[in-house]
Amino acid sequence: MSNLDYSRTLQQREGKITLHGPEAFAGMRKAGQLAAAALDLLVPFVKAGVTTERLDDLIFDFAMDHKAIPAPLNYRGFPRSICTSVNHVVCHGIPGPKPLREGDILNIDVTLIVDGWHGDTSRMYTVGAISRRAERLIDVTYEALRRGIAAVKPGHTTGHIGQAIQAFAERERCSVVRDFCGHGLGRLFHDRPNILHYGEAGDGPVLEPGMLFTIEPMINLGKSTVKVLPDGWTAVTRDRELSAQFEHTVGVTEAGCEVFTFSPAGYHRPPFDVKVPST
Ligand code: MF3
Ligand code: CO
Ligand code: CO
Repeated sequence: MSNLDYSRTLQQREGKITLHGPEAFAGMRKAGQLAAAALDLLVPFVKAGVTTERLDDLIFDFAMDHKAIPAPLNYRGFPRSICTSVNHVVCHGIPGPKPLREGDILNIDVTLIVDGWHGDTSRMYTVGAISRRAERLIDVTYEALRRGIAAVKPGHTTGHIGQAIQAFAERERCSVVRDFCGHGLGRLFHDRPNILHYGEAGDGPVLEPGMLFTIEPMINLGKSTVKVLPDGWTAVTRDRELSAQFEHTVGVTEAGCEVFTFSPAGYHRPPFDVKVPST
């Protein structure tokens, strides 16, 4: 079978990718903005001494106040409303009673369902002063996602996104996690297509206006290999080196894409300049 036939076969196996209309985009805008606002809310709370289960409680209450459902809660048995992934945890960290410490870096991942639509987004946070290598990893990961988003346009394939992310991360002497990927979403939490954060332009399905998916690269300072802890969720780097992740939900448009999950407060990346209300 030629390479082309093989990729067509893969595409058939992947099945049809839903193309969504303006009502879906409106719904995704609302869900995405609420999820991003939830991440904004946490900024002043992420400090040494706070527990990740306290952060989880804050998001659960925020969701209830806004008639939203935290999608992770009870999803395939996940026990909490958000994922909190500290230092060498790659993703799917379960909030718990351990307090954050000065120098920690963490990803907080929020997915809220609003009127049936899923807004899925995550950012890095820092606890006090962090190491320069941790700072560099966060910068590389943020820029990798930015480049992935810039590669989204009709006629490109999902592989253009992966290539943009991988080429940049590896040029910066970091590695791309292979075991988890971005995903289609909408009324479903995890749908077709898979968005790999590595690969070659031309791999995977062709992007078309109306597709909805996340891009959520996990980038490591050390090797790319991960393992899942006995809790069945927490994914960690095998070499215990630091890992970072940012995630946005996007919709493909004629011109490129719309990002639904930009921070309303402008808290795009750390260090966050916390806006204290003046009295
Ligand atoms: N929000 C995660 C994602 O980006 C998924 C979390 S599923 C959970 O896809 F069950 F771990 F919460
Ligand atoms: Co996601
Ligand atoms: Co997520």
